[in-house]
Amino acid sequence: MSAPLHSHLQQLDANGIVEDVLCGLTASRKTLPAKLFYDEAGAQLFERICTLDEYYLTRTELSILRHSINEIGERVGPRAALVEYGSGAGVKIRLLLDALCEPSAYVPIDISHEQLARVASELAGDYPKVAIRPLCADYTHPLSLPQLPDHDRRLGFFPGSTIGNFHPAEAAAFLRRIRRAVGPGGMLLLGVDRRKDPAILNAAYDDREGVTAAFNLNVLRRINRELDANFDLSRFRHRAFFNESAGRVEMHLEAIVAHEVEVGGAAISFARGETIWTESSYKYDREQLATVTAAAGFEVERLWTDADERFWVALLIAP
Ligand code: AVJ
Repeated sequence: MSAPLHSHLQQLDANGIVEDVLCGLTASRKTLPAKLFYDEAGAQLFERICTLDEYYLTRTELSILRHSINEIGERVGPRAALVEYGSGAGVKIRLLLDALCEPSAYVPIDISHEQLARVASELAGDYPKVAIRPLCADYTHPLSLPQLPDHDRRLGFFPGSTIGNFHPAEAAAFLRRIRRAVGPGGMLLLGVDRRKDPAILNAAYDDREGVTAAFNLNVLRRINRELDANFDLSRFRHRAFFNESAGRVEMHLEAIVAHEVEVGGAAISFARGETIWTESSYKYDREQLATVTAAAGFEVERLWTDADERFWVALLIAP
């Protein structure tokens, strides 16, 4: 932003979202970054999404992890320091902490500070021998890890197919940064959603109960609160669909009527049917997965999938 921000807005914008929001909403193709979903209410809605029938991702990944966890433990070896990019509710990491031999440290990184603090203190109580070093940060930006106790290997953990939120070239750049963070011999355990029947994908992102719709619309409520904006949520509807040629699910908020909204002092006008593109969720086939991991300088140590071939858990190693 070139113009100095009104001090009232600066105070209000405690989470520093104003630049991202105004930049996205003043572009000719309106967008908002997906990380804005995860305020406290959004993090809770996402937890509900993870339990929906249609949203197969979470339970499928968990079942793959349960089946492969001993093999993962053997390949990773003892005294690993774990770094999780987007620790969320802290459920999946317990599988790893239970299965690995004497893990030395765990660094949960998350953008939702309420959730991060809660999860870190719960884990500290349950795993007294593991050094828990939470880091509240946006991991899409370069970051430096906290001081870690002695360890034999670093293991990055990036589950949930959040890698899908990145456009493929950005995904490779992000994985490359993880490779540098884990160093030579370091590993990354990565969850990746596979390309599949569009009907299954469409249902997963547009559930019958409307939880995903509420999750999507919540970003407008957040902007109203944090930037003193006046979005009328009843004038927008949730749209989600698999874009076959691009290989991604897209989520949008579509203006039902032409109208204007005030956001942080700027007037934003919407045509009827115009959308704000709020999320991309790329789905990978085997070749695309091989391409992106190789571009990041990782080798695939092992790949696991489920019986329905919906999801991958990949163990990558930095040579
Ligand atoms: C957390 C990014 C993996 O893309 O499936 C769920 C977020 N969006 N429903 C996904 C999400 C809509 C989720 N990720």
